[in-house]
Amino acid sequence: MFVSDAIRQRREITNYQAKEIPDNLLEEIIESAYLSPAGNNLPSREFIVVKNREMLVHLAKTTPFMPWLTEAAAAIVVTGRPAVSKYWLQDASIACGFIWLSAVEKELGAAFGAVYHAEDEAESERRESHVRDALGIPEDRRIVAIIGLGYPAEIPAPKKHVAKEDIVYYEKFQN
Ligand SMILES: Cc1cc2nc3c(=O)[nH]c(=O)nc-3n(C[C@H](O)[C@H](O)[C@H](O)COP(=O)(O)O)c2cc1C
Repeated sequence: MFVSDAIRQRREITNYQAKEIPDNLLEEIIESAYLSPAGNNLPSREFIVVKNREMLVHLAKTTPFMPWLTEAAAAIVVTGRPAVSKYWLQDASIACGFIWLSAVEKELGAAFGAVYHAEDEAESERRESHVRDALGIPEDRRIVAIIGLGYPAEIPAPKKHVAKEDIVYYEKFQN
């Protein structure tokens, strides 16, 4: 599959078939995260692969916005390391994008569960602690997201995009 096709086909998939993801495919998805770019090429992000059903059900309670984790075949928890790089959040976010596109290429669906909350430190702490305690993640790591993965049970209806000219400008910002 061309990257451009994966970009066009990609949607958030929150309903999954009860079907395991072969380990080699999961490893290829992890490879895409491992090979993703990072500012100054620093190892500012880490990835935890979770397949255990009880743990997936527990992680689904991190926020009310990731119930789909209970049925996902696997999840990848993406962490960032502020002590390693000032670009930890961008690095972790780019890795999430790579994971998502790599999943599409393998005919898998992915959903993004936001954990780190930039505007509400107390809420972020509550969410991150839930994941940190469950997975034994050290205190110096921030927990950016949990990406659920699985074979799609349904493909969402086409979505409405904002008009391209409303967000894409050439040469200069336009009001
Ligand atoms: C930074 C970010 C945070 C998101 N947080 C959540 C989330 O917590 N739960 C969820 O179900 N989807 C979440 N999403 C998925 C978006 O809601 C989804 O990508 C968006 O509605 C566009 O739909 P599409 O992915 O099908 O194009 C998040 C996506 C991004 C990029």
